[in-house]
Amino acid sequence: MQPEPLLGWKRTYSCGALRLTHVGETVTLMGWVHRRRDLGGLVFIDLRDRDGIAQIIFNPQDNSELFEQARQLRNEYVIAVTGVVEQRAEGTVNRELASGTVELRAVTMKLLNTSRVPPLPINEDRVLDDGLRMKYRFLDLRRAPMQQRIITRHRVGKAMRDYLGSQGFLEIETPMLVRSTPEGARDYLVPSRVNPGRFYALPQSPQLFKQLLMVSGLERYFQLARCFRDEDLRADRQPEFTQLDLEMSFIEQDDIFTIIEGTLKHTFKEVLGLDLVTPFPRMPYHVAEQRYSYDKPDAWVGMVFNDLTSAVSKVEFGAWKTAIQEGGCVKGITVPHGAGASRKETDELGNLVKGWGAGGLFTVGFGDDGAVRSSLARYLDEASTASLRESAQAANGDMVMIVAGPTPRVLEVLGKLRLELGRRLKLIPMPGTVIANPAEQPFNFLWVVNFPQFHWNEEEQRLEAEHHPFTSPLPEDIPLMKTDPLKVRSSAYDLVLNGTEMGSGSIRIHQRPLQEMVFEAIGLDPQAANEKFGFLMEAFEYGAPPHGGIALGFDRLTALMSGVDSIREVIAFPKNQNAVDMLTGAPVEVTPEQLALLSVAVVDKKPAGRSASVPAQEVEAGAPA
Ligand code: AMO
Repeated sequence: MQPEPLLGWKRTYSCGALRLTHVGETVTLMGWVHRRRDLGGLVFIDLRDRDGIAQIIFNPQDNSELFEQARQLRNEYVIAVTGVVEQRAEGTVNRELASGTVELRAVTMKLLNTSRVPPLPINEDRVLDDGLRMKYRFLDLRRAPMQQRIITRHRVGKAMRDYLGSQGFLEIETPMLVRSTPEGARDYLVPSRVNPGRFYALPQSPQLFKQLLMVSGLERYFQLARCFRDEDLRADRQPEFTQLDLEMSFIEQDDIFTIIEGTLKHTFKEVLGLDLVTPFPRMPYHVAEQRYSYDKPDAWVGMVFNDLTSAVSKVEFGAWKTAIQEGGCVKGITVPHGAGASRKETDELGNLVKGWGAGGLFTVGFGDDGAVRSSLARYLDEASTASLRESAQAANGDMVMIVAGPTPRVLEVLGKLRLELGRRLKLIPMPGTVIANPAEQPFNFLWVVNFPQFHWNEEEQRLEAEHHPFTSPLPEDIPLMKTDPLKVRSSAYDLVLNGTEMGSGSIRIHQRPLQEMVFEAIGLDPQAANEKFGFLMEAFEYGAPPHGGIALGFDRLTALMSGVDSIREVIAFPKNQNAVDMLTGAPVEVTPEQLALLSVAVVDKKPAGRSASVPAQEVEAGAPA
């Protein structure tokens, strides 16, 4: 049997679409051989396309030559089959297939292409090696769960476009070759052949262009924007990713929240059939920081942070004493019914905590009889036990998990520990678990508002913008800019979903003097500010309207809506942990001629995979090749 061209054959239905209503019709299906079974003198082919599977039956009594051809079919061969739709006999109905009440009795068939034995099984849903999946992504994407995720991604995007379109938003593309904007990560640089020694950056986000579009009077902009950031990769970070990016004029924070809540409500309804409850709760940053973690609270996990510093101030335990003496703190979270945790479990958590930069994890359990279970028991007299227990709000049977040290570190570590416990106690889905029905997992959105305008960058000994320098301080805090800048609250907000940062944005500065003041505060002198952002400040002088916006992590949202914890599962062609595309091999070395044309020389080749920890620019502009 040789593959043949289509030559006029037309598909009448998709495999997944066949139903009882089609019985008696002659139809043509096209797709991939999902499975072949030779049974009782008949050949059954499960034919698969994007929509699903149809069973085709080849009977030697109908056509013995065709039957022989069917016996030669192998998995993943591509065929077209014309036949008659028949109702399946009672007892042979397949309730797992949408088309399971019918089958196609083959009349003619065309082999469209053969296939080698695929290196990964396409017709089984099991955990596969990641490297293999990435190398053969074109086959990985052929598997039903992946097709489902790609379809979900499309539907999420479409629902967002439809909703925002109905709200007067215009979809506007912004350039890919840009001047770098400071979003906190390193830029990917693109050398300019016609301007030797000069580089574009790939956009980390369309931040400045969307603001300029507001100055241009376009009022409501959105885009499913591709962004590029050269940063350390994790399950929820890719070097190129997509944002639902938007910006609006003549609005305040509440208007942005209403639009985003509306967009998500519409999207969840369309894609998962789920009714999100809006408005989402809001939490000021300082509350989130004290109670949960520094900025990504996951309120539904419970287990708030309890400050134990004064409760344990008299305890003669070295690590706690040092932390307190050095101006730090002792904080804990109380795990309900956690006292029964095994030594192995607490040791594991202890190792994690150390890996996150804390000195260690200290546990104090209270048995069902109230007895203290802790390796620190000898340091805890009756009075300090009682006050610790009260501050930790621990009941009999609970366990208090304690971290001590500098406050920002303690908050960060406890925040991570809390999420880890949430996963282990199955309050949050475990990483790597696929949730059969994503609509069944809780989706808890939360706005975190009033982030500080600045934080102190210890390394560089200067103030840094907490969100980005185009964020407006709260008007009532502007007077503090000169006197107590770390106290200035900003109009920045984050949208958090189940402990993951889903989006962030702010009301922007739209007047030159305030923008200059913020640049100055972060150590950008007027000349440097003008050189880098003169175009923006000049634009502000021509009637810039008040405006603000937000960007949601489109990949992160789609991943959570698909019930997977890595955004790689919802990106058709993602990169691996070393930012390598294992399918095409990119990035690759290029020829000396190509480099010469770009006036670029490679001066110091680092081993692959270390790119995240080496200086941003490994290429030297303008050097002779
Ligand atoms: P920000 O930098 O917070 O804000 O990014 C917005 C959202 O984008 C997602 N995100 C990522 N997703 C996948 N891989 C990455 N490497 C990655 N980095 C960020 C996150 C994040 O919340 N211009 C501002 C927005 C604004 O002010 O309007 C910005 O880009 O979900």
